[in-house]
Amino acid sequence: MPDIESLLEEKRVFKPPRDFARAANWKRKQVAELRRLGQKPERLWAKLAREQIAWFSPWKKVLDWKPPFAKWFVGAKTNVSYNCLDRHIQGWRRNKAAILWEGEPGDTRTITYAELHREVCRFANVLKGLGVKRGDRVAIYMPMLPELAIAMLACTRIGAPHSIVFGGFSAEALRDRIQDAGARVVVTSDGGHRRGAPFPIKQTVDQACAEAPGVEKVVVVRRTGQPVEMKPGRDLWWHEEMKQASAKCPPAKLDSEHPLFILYTSGTTGRPKGILHSTGGYLTHVTATARAVFDLRDEDIYWCTADIGWITGHSYVIYGLLSNGATTLMFEGAPTTPGPDRFWDIIERWGVTIFYTAPTAIRTFIRLGDEHPKKHDLSSLRLLGTVGEPINPEAWMWYHRVIGGGRCPIVDTWWQTETGGIMIAPLPGATDTKPGSATLPFPGVHAAILDEQGEPVSPPHGGFLAITAPWPGMLRGIWGDRKRFVETYWSKWRNTYFPGDGAHRDRRGYFWIMGRIDDVMNVSGHRIGTMEVESAIVAHADVAEAAVVGRPDEITGTAIVAFVTPRSHVAGGEALQRGIRAQVAKQIGAIAKPAEIRFTEALPKTRSGKIMRRLLRDIAAGGAPAGDTSTLEDFSVLAKLRESEED
Ligand code: WT7
Repeated sequence: MPDIESLLEEKRVFKPPRDFARAANWKRKQVAELRRLGQKPERLWAKLAREQIAWFSPWKKVLDWKPPFAKWFVGAKTNVSYNCLDRHIQGWRRNKAAILWEGEPGDTRTITYAELHREVCRFANVLKGLGVKRGDRVAIYMPMLPELAIAMLACTRIGAPHSIVFGGFSAEALRDRIQDAGARVVVTSDGGHRRGAPFPIKQTVDQACAEAPGVEKVVVVRRTGQPVEMKPGRDLWWHEEMKQASAKCPPAKLDSEHPLFILYTSGTTGRPKGILHSTGGYLTHVTATARAVFDLRDEDIYWCTADIGWITGHSYVIYGLLSNGATTLMFEGAPTTPGPDRFWDIIERWGVTIFYTAPTAIRTFIRLGDEHPKKHDLSSLRLLGTVGEPINPEAWMWYHRVIGGGRCPIVDTWWQTETGGIMIAPLPGATDTKPGSATLPFPGVHAAILDEQGEPVSPPHGGFLAITAPWPGMLRGIWGDRKRFVETYWSKWRNTYFPGDGAHRDRRGYFWIMGRIDDVMNVSGHRIGTMEVESAIVAHADVAEAAVVGRPDEITGTAIVAFVTPRSHVAGGEALQRGIRAQVAKQIGAIAKPAEIRFTEALPKTRSGKIMRRLLRDIAAGGAPAGDTSTLEDFSVLAKLRESEED
C-alpha cells in the first residue's frame, strides 16, 4: 500500500460568488435534491437523460448491470450527431456559432449550427460512398481543424465508431492503433501548423498505412498546401469528395449501446488499450456534466484548450458542448506562438467566458510571468476549469487571482478516458471550493476511498480511489480484449471500478486526488505507460535493459527518467542518449521522450529479480547526476542496502 496520506492541510475555502450562485443552472437547493436522487444512480441519470437528450424511441430499462458489464438506456434509440446538430437547427440556434476556430497563423472560421449540419451530412455521405457501414471503424489523424469535428460527427451520424489518434503520435503508434481497431478508412490532412511552421502529417499516415493493409481509403484535408503524394485508388482529397456529396443524410437510429468510439490510452503493459465508449450513456453523461459543471448558458463562449485527440477534447470540446447547443472554440496552435500571450489574446479577442485547461499549462504561464495575461482584458471570463492532473494549491491561487481576476469560480474536474465524462468536480454555483481539491462526486456518481482489501478508509487517511456504482459514460470494454478489461478495472475489488489513482478525503468529505499509483506516468496531463517507454528503449540495438520511472517536475507534473544498461562494450553517452530519444519518438511519439537518461552497469533488482522501482524513483527524485554522463552509475550497493531494509 503506497503512502498516500494527506500531505497538505488546505484551509482556504472559496464560496461561490453570490451573483454567480444566484444565476447558476444548478443552485444549492437543487443540487442537494439531485444528490438525494443520485443515491439511486439510475433515477438521477434517467431524469437527466429524459430532460437533456433527444431519443428516437424510449428505453425499456434504465440500467442492465451484470458486473462488470453495464448497459444504459436499454432498448432506446438515439444518434449523437442528431443531438449535437439537428435538434438545434430546428429553432433559433440555426444561425448560432457552433464552432469558432482559430488557426495557428491567425486565420479564423466561424461555423454555425446550420453550416456544421450541412458539412457533417456531406461527409457522412462521403463515408457511405467509400463503403463505410454501420459498425465499421474510421481512424482520424488530424490537427485541430474544423474538419476533425466534422469527420467525427459524420461517423456518429452513420454509426461508424471513430478512433481518433492524437497528431503527436508517431507513424508506428498510428499503425498499431489502425491495426488494432481494424480501421478501413483514415481521415487526415496534408499537414498542420505548430510553433510558427507547417509540419507534415500525410507522410506519417503513408508510413503507417504501408504496414496496415486493411486501410482501403485515405481522405486528405488540404490545410497547409504542402506537396503530398496521393496514392492512386487509395487517397482522395476531402474538398473534391465534398463537392459532389449531398447535404442530406438522415441520422442512423442507433441503439443506445451502439459503439460510439474507441480511444487508445496507456496502461501498465507495453500495449495501449482501446477504450470503448457507447452512444446513449456517454451522450447523457457528457451533456449533463458539461451543462452543470461549466454552468453553460447560450451566451457563453467556451474554450477548452485540449486537443481532440484526447478524451477531454472528445467530451468537452465537441460532444458535451454541441449537444448543449453551446459555442465551442477550437485552436490549432501552441500556447506560446507567436508570443507568450497567445492564449490571453484569444480570450480577449473572442470574448471567452469559460476557460478549461490543464495544470501543466497554468504552471508554464506562471513561469512565463504575469505581464503576459496582464496585457489583456480578461474580464469576459466568468468560470475557469482544470483537468488532467492534480493542481497544486499555489497554481490554483495564481489561476484564480491572475486569470480569474478573483471573481471566477474554478472547477477542478477529476475523470479519465475510461470514465467518459467528469466524475468528481464542484458545481460552481453550489459547491465551496478548496485549492487543490476536486471536491465532491457529481450527483449519481458513487466514489469512495478504499484500502487494498476494499474496506473504506476514513478521513484523513489515504487509500485508493474507487467508483462503487456504474455510471452512464463508463467504458464498455477494451476493444478486442475482454480479459484485460476485467483484470485491469474490476478485479481488485468486487463489483467496484478501480481507476488507478491514490486519494484521500478531508473531514468535509472532499476528495483530494494524489495521482497514479500504478506504473502509469502523467506527463503534462497525458498518460504514458512506463512499460511502453521501456519497450521502445530496449528496441534500440545498443541497449541491454531499461527501467523507466517518473520524477516530480515543477512544470510537467511528472518527468520521465530512464535508467539504461547499455550492451557490453557499448559506452553510455550523449550519442546513445540521442539515439534512445529518437527511438522513443519513432515508436511512440515526441511526448514520450525521457527528460533524463541515466546509464547504469546493472539495474537494482530484488533477489527474485524484480526491478526495484521504488529505489529508482527515489534516486530519480534526488536529481540528475553531476558531471560526465558516460560513467556508468552503480546502484547495486544501494539496492543491497534497500533490500535489507525491506526484509
Ligand atoms: C488520469 C486520467 C480526464 C481527462 C484528462 C486525462 C489524472 C485527471 C485530474 C484531476 C487529479 C487528475 C488521474 C487520472 N487526473 N484529472 N482533476 N485531479 N488528477 O485523462 O489520460 O485518461 O488520465 O489523469 O490520475 O487517472 P487520462
